[in-house]
Order: sequence, then structure tokens, then C-alpha cells
Amino acid sequence: MMHDIEKILLSEEEIKECVAKLGKQLAEEYADKNPVFLGILKGVVVFFADMIRAIPIRSEIDFISVSSYGMGTNSGQLKFHKDVSIPIKGRHVVILEDILDSGNTLSHVVAHLNAMEPASLKICTLLDKPSRREAPVEADYVGFTIPNEFVVGYGLDFAEGYRNLPFIGVLKPEIYG
Ligand code: IMP
Ligand code: MG
Repeated sequence: MMHDIEKILLSEEEIKECVAKLGKQLAEEYADKNPVFLGILKGVVVFFADMIRAIPIRSEIDFISVSSYGMGTNSGQLKFHKDVSIPIKGRHVVILEDILDSGNTLSHVVAHLNAMEPASLKICTLLDKPSRREAPVEADYVGFTIPNEFVVGYGLDFAEGYRNLPFIGVLKPEIYG
């Protein structure tokens, strides 16, 4: 697995510092709001587990599962596998996402959730690739803005692999090329 990685983009230590900083910010803004932290499966699982423990306030968690058809590096048409299980009408919802790329996933998810009339809806993404944006969606909280390189690890996959790497790395082009 390691020999498929060209370079480490974000180390475990850098990610840890970032999660602590984001967690502190969210804890301050959502204290006494009993927010719902809503993770988008599967890529968010590692970030999600670290984030909720970095936000020591009363909160609830939930997940939705949505994926693009196909296994490549581009997100195609979306498919919903699992919807929210907590009623979010009137709730303060924070979407947690691993990476905001074209924005196609999040723009669909945001429209879907807004129809349920949450009290507020914000987006927190660990990674943002603004140069790839196609849909008009921006995150309210961004961990790292990264260049247009395909990254894996810390929950992010290529063809369902590499999610368990503890850092975020760039895959060698010959692996996905
Ligand atoms: P978007 O719909 O193009 O914004 O893509 C969002 C989804 O595509 C993310 O939740 C990831 O699952 C996947 N994705 C986008 N860029 C990368 C990447 O560099 N590595 C791994 N997955 C990615
Ligand atoms: Mg993915």
C-alpha cells in the first residue's frame, strides 16, 4: 500500500492540529445549540471520529450515504444509499465531509437537506480543491485548501482502497492513470 504513494501531502501531526483548531471553533459556535453533526459516508469516517471528540459540547450524530456511480477519480451521477435517521427540521446541522471537489455531491446533499427545513445548515470539510469546482457550493469551515491532485488516506479512497492510511498522500499517477 505504501509503495503506491508518491508523497505525503498532510502528515498525521498536521491533520491532528487542524482537527483541534476546527473542533475548538465549532465548539464555540455551537455551544448550547445541540447541533447534529452529519457525516457523508464513507470518506468522512476517520475525520468524523476525530472531529466529534474534538467538540466537547452536547450534540448528536447522524450519517447519510451517497456515492457516485463508478470507481474512478471523477464523481458521476449520485446515488443515495442512506438518508438521515434523525428528524432535522428545526435543528442546527453541520455537514462533515472529507473533500469538496467539483461540489456536485454537496450541492445535491444541501438541496436535499434544506428541503427538510433545518434551523441552520453549514458545511465543514477537511479538504477543499477549489480549482475543481463545477457546482456553486462553498464550505463554511475548511481544514486545508489543496491543489488539484488525487489524494488518498485518512478516509479518502481510490477504488475503495487506501482509506486506512493515517496520513493524506498523493497516489502515484500510474496507479490511477
Ligand atoms: P465532488 O462531488 O466532486 O465534490 O466530490 C466529492 C467526493 O468525491 C468526495 O466525497 C470523495 O469521495 C470524492 N473525491 C473527490 N476528490 C477526491 C480525491 O482527491 N481523493 C479521493 N476521493 C475524492
Ligand atoms: Mg470517495
